[in-house]
Amino acid sequence: MSKTITCSAPVNIAVIKYWGKRDEELILPTNSSLSCTLSQDQLQTRTSVSFSPTYTKDRLWLNGKEEDVSKSARLRNCLSETRRLRSEYEASLEKKGNSSVAKLSQYFVHAASINNFPTAAGLASSASGYACFVFALCKLYELPISVSDMSRIARTGSGSACRSLFGGFVAWEMGQLKDGSDSQAVQIAPETHWPEIEAIILVVSDAKKATSSTSGMQTTVQTSELLQHRISEVVPRRMKEIIHAIEQKDFKAFAEITMKDSNQFHAVCLDTYPPICYLNDVSKKVIELLTAYNSGPDGIKAAYTFDAGPNAVIYAPKANIKELIQFISFYFPSPRSNPTAYFPDPLKIFQGESWASPKESDFPSQVRGIIPVFPEGSINRIIHTPLGDGPRVLDEGSSLLTAEGLPK
Ligand code: DP6
Repeated sequence: MSKTITCSAPVNIAVIKYWGKRDEELILPTNSSLSCTLSQDQLQTRTSVSFSPTYTKDRLWLNGKEEDVSKSARLRNCLSETRRLRSEYEASLEKKGNSSVAKLSQYFVHAASINNFPTAAGLASSASGYACFVFALCKLYELPISVSDMSRIARTGSGSACRSLFGGFVAWEMGQLKDGSDSQAVQIAPETHWPEIEAIILVVSDAKKATSSTSGMQTTVQTSELLQHRISEVVPRRMKEIIHAIEQKDFKAFAEITMKDSNQFHAVCLDTYPPICYLNDVSKKVIELLTAYNSGPDGIKAAYTFDAGPNAVIYAPKANIKELIQFISFYFPSPRSNPTAYFPDPLKIFQGESWASPKESDFPSQVRGIIPVFPEGSINRIIHTPLGDGPRVLDEGSSLLTAEGLPK
């Protein structure tokens, strides 16, 4: 007896940032956070999991390369918790008189996982990766648990992963309990609630490896005084305000809070000792450009946010995306060798028109000449995506594992 399940899960980008743990082992945060889930059509992790009596140990392949499961506490946490729930479920079925319950919890598991976006794009894949792994295991074990329950397990793999269990607008409620049983993700609104909001990701070239989120936030918790103010005063207020803005579809309020929270997250990083600086010159000029754009007669038209790296994510109403791409690609021109890879226009906003040679005189006057034209390739790639749904179960044909349980 063996079985394989294949699932996909989305990437999420926070607008109220998670930064700081009160419990490193259980991954319990020092503040609540909120994110938007991006469409899986553009960015997704796909994972197949299987069990079989012939397997001799738990094995996992990430983008074709085998990882040592026994060496990763985070992978083991996710696996052992889903397995424990399965064995509890088996016991409860037996108690109800079901004598033919399959003892899946006793078998080893094989898993294979890939991302449809290049790792070189510098996008964090741990959120979609752990969300997908946990969701697929829960489906494999047929666990009768809620999506928020699954999010608590994914949280022990990587904090931000808990938010990738839902589509649309998602809050991670920090919770108060020591055991983490109330620290979970909940959906604030599905993506269909506010379909006008879309995202563009500016993939900034940067060879340098940034300080990892895990170690960066550890140092921040130990040394930043500003973080204490953020935790006690700022985030609780902003969570309420941004949830209200989402409910009311108030873009200006949503965008202002998003930009302020990104700024404060990076301020807290700089307040860390020794300081952490994730933004580079390109990131800073993107902030300057969007600040100018938002100073025009229509007020705020786009919101930037940055995670633990130099890439910018811009949330904006669909109607503003075309002009944003035009002036961004003017000030940060594509490498001449490969303009299609720079912006493939997946949602066809230019409908075959050329976007590659925008003229400065066509831009809103407030952005003209604000920043210099950067060298070609300072931004590698522009990804444009709507928001999207939570994890999906895929058909058998999508499996990444062979009948023997090895990666295809
Ligand atoms: C800046 O979830 O990657 O992206 O829990 O240690 O795995 P660990 O950290 P991780 O941190 C994400 C930090 C962030 C902000 C956010 O996504 O909220």
